[in-house]
Amino acid sequence: MIEMSQIEKSFGENHVLRGVDFTLHSATVHALMGENGAGKSTLMNILSGIHKRDKGIIKMDGAEVDYSSPKDSEEAGIQFIHQELNIWPDMTVLENLFIGKEVRNKFGMLDERQMTAEARRIFKRLDFNLPLNRLAGKCSIGEQQMIEISKALMTDAKVIIMDEPTAALTDKEIEHLFIMMNQLKAEGVAFVYISHRMDEIFKIADEITVMRDGISVMSKPTQETSYNEIVQAMVGRSLDQQFPERTTIPGEIILEVSDLTNDEFGLEGINFNLRKGEILGFSGLMGAGRTEIMRSLFGIDKGRKKVTLNGKPVTINSPQDAIKNRFGFITENRKDEGLVLDASIKDNMTLANLKSFAKNGVVQNNPLEEFVNEMQKRLSVKSNKDLPVSSLSGGNQQKVVLAKWIGNGPAVLILDEPTRGIDVGAKREIYTLMNELTDRGLSIIMVSSEMPEIIGLSDRVYVLQEGRITGELAKEQISQENIMTLATGGVLNG
Ligand SMILES: Nc1ncnc2c1ncn2[C@@H]1O[C@H](COP(=O)(O)OP(=O)(O)OP(=O)(O)O)[C@@H](O)[C@H]1O
Ligand SMILES: [Mg+2]
Repeated sequence: MIEMSQIEKSFGENHVLRGVDFTLHSATVHALMGENGAGKSTLMNILSGIHKRDKGIIKMDGAEVDYSSPKDSEEAGIQFIHQELNIWPDMTVLENLFIGKEVRNKFGMLDERQMTAEARRIFKRLDFNLPLNRLAGKCSIGEQQMIEISKALMTDAKVIIMDEPTAALTDKEIEHLFIMMNQLKAEGVAFVYISHRMDEIFKIADEITVMRDGISVMSKPTQETSYNEIVQAMVGRSLDQQFPERTTIPGEIILEVSDLTNDEFGLEGINFNLRKGEILGFSGLMGAGRTEIMRSLFGIDKGRKKVTLNGKPVTINSPQDAIKNRFGFITENRKDEGLVLDASIKDNMTLANLKSFAKNGVVQNNPLEEFVNEMQKRLSVKSNKDLPVSSLSGGNQQKVVLAKWIGNGPAVLILDEPTRGIDVGAKREIYTLMNELTDRGLSIIMVSSEMPEIIGLSDRVYVLQEGRITGELAKEQISQENIMTLATGGVLNG
């Protein structure tokens, strides 16, 4: 159906694609995989006419094509759901769904009734519900993602490109998305599916292509490959162990949060504590209130709470208060992180923390450069540190955010979905880094939807259900079964 051959693309000196071949068959789901920065989004940007290729040929149904803008490719039946969501926060859900394709009646007026009916129809197929008149900016990230997906599925596209579509979806939403993808596939639609989530790939993809160092290094039917082969193809070596061993032994309690309550989000009487050097997991189904607790703790959302830090009561009514008390927070939404996209990688990693590189009020260049170099190396952000952050791939931007907060020298670091959108190799680096940080006495609170991550890293886990903590699991009790039991309102045996 689509045949891309020998595609080449450079950004300045950076030769990103060095002759990539990619073939998409109709009525299939084709997974596109590769490390952060491998060129997946770029290849799809070229297909859809967002970027111009330097060399190579693109054919659709046997005929050579050359789309010069996204509008061009959309008209040819290609829909692209981007990695970074494109939601208009001040417009309603309905308006967002129909941007650029408003339905008008014969008088040229917006046909609200028909648009509403169409929107309801697609939501029903996805078994998803959202008031159509709600402002999109008031929707959660997962809901915004569903809006984008609905928008693409509503068209009669022949090819749908999904760049990390499920990052913020609940298991139920993913399940319905997959059902709908399979239905559309039966009608002949082809999907390009970009994801770092291996379990999803094996569930949904018919074929897999892996990119590395600017070429496609593997392309196979899913049935003929394995987890290990894909990882090997992606990172060029096999990873013996996904989670490094925890060696830190948590010390005394340094943080106590009691009676955290936030009516707006249905949080009630949340109590928990954190030990020095601990990795404390927060688990629960999506919507259980994990992110909301962290936002309330950090002073982003209002509400009541008592916080005791190192035995002394502290007041946290704003993020500034939190930062003053040496809290750091990496939120689940990259766009909120305050990355200055036009500023360099180096500046983004350090500007907010210049004080920590200063001696007698003067910033020391050496430690600053060393820190940036070290972070780039550790997290494998393979790019010139003076280039703007906007030139980095999505996953690599996420790593810059992590570096920024580590540079701030926090005592308590809150990580909400720390490895979302990050490739397997770099994930392991982040885990190792978390271990080292806790070894040095830092304490980490980690919210994660990835069960293996919670189980593989946490020293202790709190499980939530609908705004309440339903249980606390000590290291030896942490298991998928126990977590699921507590997350769904069950009681542990014994
Ligand atoms: N607009 C741009 N200007 C300059 N360089 C860019 C631009 N877009 C991408 N790049 C570079 O191209 C390379 C490939 O990036 P791309 O976004 O395609 O990676 P990716 O495979 O999608 O990674 P991820 O999994 O992190 O999303 C990276 O080195 C990136 O820095
Ligand atoms: Mg990408």
